[in-house]
This record gives sequence, structure tokens and C-alpha cells, in this order.
Amino acid sequence: MRIEPVAALVGHVAVPGDKSISHRAVLIGAICDGETRISRFGRSADTEATIAAVRALGAEVQEQDVDSLAVRGVGLRGFCEPSEPLNCGNAGALMRLLAGILAGQRGRFELVGDESLSARPMERVAEPLRLMGARIETTGGRAPLVVEGGSLTRISYELPIASAQVKSAVLLAGLFATGGETTVIEPLPVRDHTERLLELAGARVRRTPRSVSVWPAERLTLDGVEVPGDFSSAAPLLVAAAIVPGSEVTIHGVGLNPRRTGLLEVLEHMGARIAVYNRRSIGGEPAGDVEVRSSELVGATVSAAEVPRLLDELPLFALAASHARGESVVRGASELRVKESDRIEAVVEELRRIGAHIRATRDGFRIRGVPTRLRGGIVDSRGDHRVAMLGAIAGLASREGVELEGADVVGVSFPGFFEVLAQLAPESVHYPPAT
Ligand code: S3P
Repeated sequence: MRIEPVAALVGHVAVPGDKSISHRAVLIGAICDGETRISRFGRSADTEATIAAVRALGAEVQEQDVDSLAVRGVGLRGFCEPSEPLNCGNAGALMRLLAGILAGQRGRFELVGDESLSARPMERVAEPLRLMGARIETTGGRAPLVVEGGSLTRISYELPIASAQVKSAVLLAGLFATGGETTVIEPLPVRDHTERLLELAGARVRRTPRSVSVWPAERLTLDGVEVPGDFSSAAPLLVAAAIVPGSEVTIHGVGLNPRRTGLLEVLEHMGARIAVYNRRSIGGEPAGDVEVRSSELVGATVSAAEVPRLLDELPLFALAASHARGESVVRGASELRVKESDRIEAVVEELRRIGAHIRATRDGFRIRGVPTRLRGGIVDSRGDHRVAMLGAIAGLASREGVELEGADVVGVSFPGFFEVLAQLAPESVHYPPAT
């Protein structure tokens, strides 16, 4: 696919429902009593894998519309052993969160994933679940995973890495544990959508600034969940508006959970013009309309403590920094190496190919920004949806455009991405002729 340089991005758009929350709403809805109606569900390849998984486990999911679902839950311990392995596709969140729930079910469950997911670390969830008494095997530390559910005992667990997926797996397993509350201590605050939804579902949850505890539950019910727009899907559009001169973009109904919006603050430090209107609550999460207008940017440093709040947006930060005056640095982000691709290597190599001055470090990158358009050229998504979106935005802001290889992978999180780009910048996207 070809992405042409554009003069500006202008307009008002919305993005699909949050992927993290959509996974959680379906997974938790499936172990509730009764029906959970989910509106503004973020439909994507990842979240469709979650629907398929809970169906295979015995929950009924009615798809009433492209973005509204009704999940008929089986109750806390009602999952049945499926006849085939559960295919988590590309979705790390699905595999890790589901492992936490399956640890408390009766039966033997096998979880498999695609090539990328099968290369990602899974001992990080297996270890704490074993401490709770679960029998769980990885394949050399990776998927396929085999979970033999049974009785669990509470733990207090300090996360060795800042991971919301690991935290969530332990908290979900804690619903089935005996002996009182299960506590997760987080060295740095990571996204808290699981605990918010568990509270909405009636679970007893206690939060302190550095920890979260969940008590074993008798039953959960979640009548309706409205999913706010995905900040991580809004992020490419926000960065595009910040770096392409003359742009003015508003994204409506975006989730603004403070544990997800680090990119907004970093862009503000860099001199971006950002305004948030109509702050409100959507589905128990802070949300609002975000407006970004282009401006001249200066470089910034992202420290290890800030990383979890913009983890999935760091590739886009690198692009913004490439257009900003002066040096930018990201530290403490070695987790990027175990995402859908090695995102340190992918970002550095792909941005260099189109003219950026960026180099990799062990745990991040260093960028020498130049406040002008990058040359452009070929970008390969490497099968990673966030790298594909990075390449597309880089193309809009470039001099010569970008030939984006493997563009289809955006469907992992944001199937309508190119249509939304075309809404903000007509003529920007050229599909290859059908063969
Ligand atoms: C996610 C948590 C983060 C994030 C991922 C989604 C989640 O991963 O990068 O895209 O839904 O909990 P880690 O838990 O591995 O940090």
C-alpha cells in the first residue's frame, strides 16, 4: 500500500473501542452470571480471537452489530474443556489473561498462538499462577501453554516487570483462590482496566497507590459495559496532527485513563498544542474529546518511570521526536523487545530506512530530530500492527511518501485505520490494484 505525503490532516473522527477493555469485557462477561451487553466493542482480529475462545469454553456471544455484543456468562467456574486448543492468534493479552481464569477452572486447557505470539515470554504468567497452586506448563517458556485448573491459594505477588497482563492474570486467578485476598504489588503503575471492570462486576477490590487486592468471588454480574475509544488507536492520528504542519484533528470519545495517556503529556512537553474537551466517564473509565493542532516540537526524554504510561505509543514517540528539534531519549523500555515484534529494532531500522536519525540502545532509543519532513521510502510492518501504523503516519509526514509492506496487519487492533486516515487526509492512501 502506498501512503502519500499530505499537506495537512483536518477533521473530527472517532476510533474503535479500546482493545484492552474489549478483551476484558468479553472474558469477565463470560464468567459472570447472566448477560453482559458490550457497546462500542473494539472489533479487531485480536478481540475476535477472544470471542472465539470464550465460545469454545461454553459462553454464548451474540453479535448484535459490528460493535455491540451480548455475552451470556457461564458463571465463575462454568467453563468446559474445549475439544481443540484455544487459538489466541496474535493476542498476548488474551493468552495471559485467559491463563489466569483457566487456572481456577476444572479441566485441561491448551492455549496456542500465531508465530509472533509463540515467540513471546509466558513464564511471566506461569510463575505466579504456579505459586497459587496452578499446574501450568509452557513450551520452553513460550506458547503453547497447558493449564490444568484446580484449587488455588491466595498470594501476595510483587511484579518483577511492570506488566498489566501479568497483574491481570494474577487478579483473575485471585477470584478463585482460598485463604483471603490476592494482592499484586506494582513497582510502577500499569493499566488498571481489569480491576476497574472487576469492581463494576461486583468483586471486592482494594487499591492502594502501589498495590491492588482482589477477594475470592461468589458470583459476578456485569449488565452493560460501554467501551471508550482506544487511546492507542487515537495515538497515530494525534501524532500525525502534531507533526504535519497546518493540521487540526479532534478525536471524540477517547479513553483517557491516566495510566494510558503518557503520550499526551510527553507531546505537551515537546510543545504540541493539545486540548481536551467534554471530559466524562465512559464504562467506568475517564474519557473525553482530544484536539491536536500542529506546532514546532522540541526533543524530550522519556524515563523508565514514565514508560508504562506510553508503552504502546513509544514507536510513535520516536516518530514525533524525529520531527522535533534536538535530542530525544527513551530509557527503561526493554519490554518493547518482547512485543508483537522487537519494537526497538523494528522502530530503529524502519525509521532509519526513511531518513530518521535514530539508534537503538539496550533498553530504548536515541533520536536526533530535525524539524523537517523525513525523506520517505519503504517501511515493512514486520507483522506488527503498531509498526504498520507508524509507517503510515511517517508516510503522511514525509517528502516522498511511504510504500508500506504488510499494511493489512493493522486489522490486529484497528481494521478501519486507513479509512479514518483517508477521512482526515483524502488522497493519502492508495491501495494496490486488485490482482
Ligand atoms: C496490555 C498490556 C501491555 C500492552 C499491551 C496490552 C493489556 O502489555 O503493551 O498492548 O491489555 O493488559 P504488558 O502487560 O506486557 O506490559
